[in-house]
Amino acid sequence: MSHPAAKAVIGFYHRHAEQWDTLRQRYFAEKAWLDRFLSYLAPDSQILDLGCGSGCPIAAYFIDHQHHITGVDSSKPLINLCQQRFPTQRWMVSDMRHLSLNQTYQGILAWDSFFHLVKDDQRAIFDIFKQHAIQGSVLMFTSGTHDGEAINDFLGEPLYHASLSPNEYHSLLNSHGFDVIDMVASDPDCGGRTVWLAQFHQQDN
Ligand SMILES: C[S@@+](CC[C@H](N)C(=O)[O-])C[C@H]1O[C@@H](n2cnc3c(N)ncnc32)[C@H](O)[C@@H]1O
Repeated sequence: MSHPAAKAVIGFYHRHAEQWDTLRQRYFAEKAWLDRFLSYLAPDSQILDLGCGSGCPIAAYFIDHQHHITGVDSSKPLINLCQQRFPTQRWMVSDMRHLSLNQTYQGILAWDSFFHLVKDDQRAIFDIFKQHAIQGSVLMFTSGTHDGEAINDFLGEPLYHASLSPNEYHSLLNSHGFDVIDMVASDPDCGGRTVWLAQFHQQDN
């Protein structure tokens, strides 16, 4: 049984889209990780941004570097902001848990988004990562530091987060064809985030 706060996440980002975006625009600690991610990409790459929020500052950084974004988010008001800001990119209102785009990407990102899913949904997302990857695709996501659930109070409402253990993320990545390039737990240079960087290799089966 999933926690009621887990079911409320999608509604949270509908209700608080504008306020959340205002706060997000004041904060950009991710540059070093985004540069590492980009170092694996050829010019003009296609990037899938799962839980892209308002497109700023993350997708904006990739667009500045001449890459092409498919941004997916379950919040219509946030996708509307992306569309206004970057009308030539591809933006979709969709639940990442049910995504099947029939397209592959050189870069796949789930930055501060995948951690809102319950543990079983997180496990299932690795199939979605794999389905959208090709040989050499780079994947980056943030997670918690240990197996568990956490509910924080944010903008006056409970906001759900969950994490698997590092060992489980490691084995899910490997069993889905991703080699871990690096994982930094609670990176002090990135607001304490735990960041995973991995690369896909085609599997034989
Ligand atoms: C903390 S925000 C991060 C947004 C963006 N990645 C960033 O770093 O600015 C989390 C985002 O995940 C989205 N999200 C949460 N659950 C989702 C789901 N099941 N499918 C798609 N997007 C989801 C929310 O709407 C929100 O935009």
